[in-house]
Amino acid sequence: MRIDILTTFTEMFPAVLGASILGRAADKGILDFKLHDIREYSENKHHNTDDYPFGGGAGMVMLAQPIYSCLDAVDPQHEARRILLSPRGRTLSPELAKELAEEKRLLFLCGHYEGIDERVTYAMDEDLSIGDYVLTGGELAAMVAIDCISRFIPGVLGSSESAENESFSEGLLEYPQYTRPAEFRGMKVPEVLLNGNHALIERWRRDRAIELTLSRRPELIKGVKLDKKDMAFIESLKMNEKQDK
Ligand code: ADE
Repeated sequence: MRIDILTTFTEMFPAVLGASILGRAADKGILDFKLHDIREYSENKHHNTDDYPFGGGAGMVMLAQPIYSCLDAVDPQHEARRILLSPRGRTLSPELAKELAEEKRLLFLCGHYEGIDERVTYAMDEDLSIGDYVLTGGELAAMVAIDCISRFIPGVLGSSESAENESFSEGLLEYPQYTRPAEFRGMKVPEVLLNGNHALIERWRRDRAIELTLSRRPELIKGVKLDKKDMAFIESLKMNEKQDK
């Protein structure tokens, strides 16, 4: 997938896009990141990218001209799905990330300062938010979105990682994990994980994932496919709760 990023802070991206799983996917050619410095497209004498708001008020507003010129150069045929990072947008979710992962080309525009000239939105396809809080700019939001979307692109995760992703456990919080040593500062790894009985281990992990989801994020359980054994486990939790009262 080709991913164009339009920003006035290109220097924020290489560490994130070049490391770990995203870096590996870029090396393999699965992801093709192209960073574009909006400032380079400013026709203004000082290469400004912002100006005072009409009507007054605090802060600066990003100019339409450098952004339009950058879009014209980078995506002249409007082939990319153009996304403006903004708290106004639809909130990123696994469903939306999966949908965006199907595109051939994505283009992210990172807003800054107090806002962007509203006329820029006419050139974009949609706004995207990563949550109900305000960041100092769209760059971190773009990186979060790219990271999340990339996990759904075939070949980005290794086969073991993606199998996990696709598994029956979808929708549940992750079960607890342990590694060596089996005892650390008096804290022991649950016995079941040490005995090599894979059926028991799987059941234990599934039960812990259900238990964690019910206690921390009960609203998520609605979206999970539960089988008879899961239901029986949930019943047993409820019984224990009653007994504890
Ligand atoms: N820009 C500023 N805050 C943002 C948010 N929450 N999501 C996306 N872009 C943003």
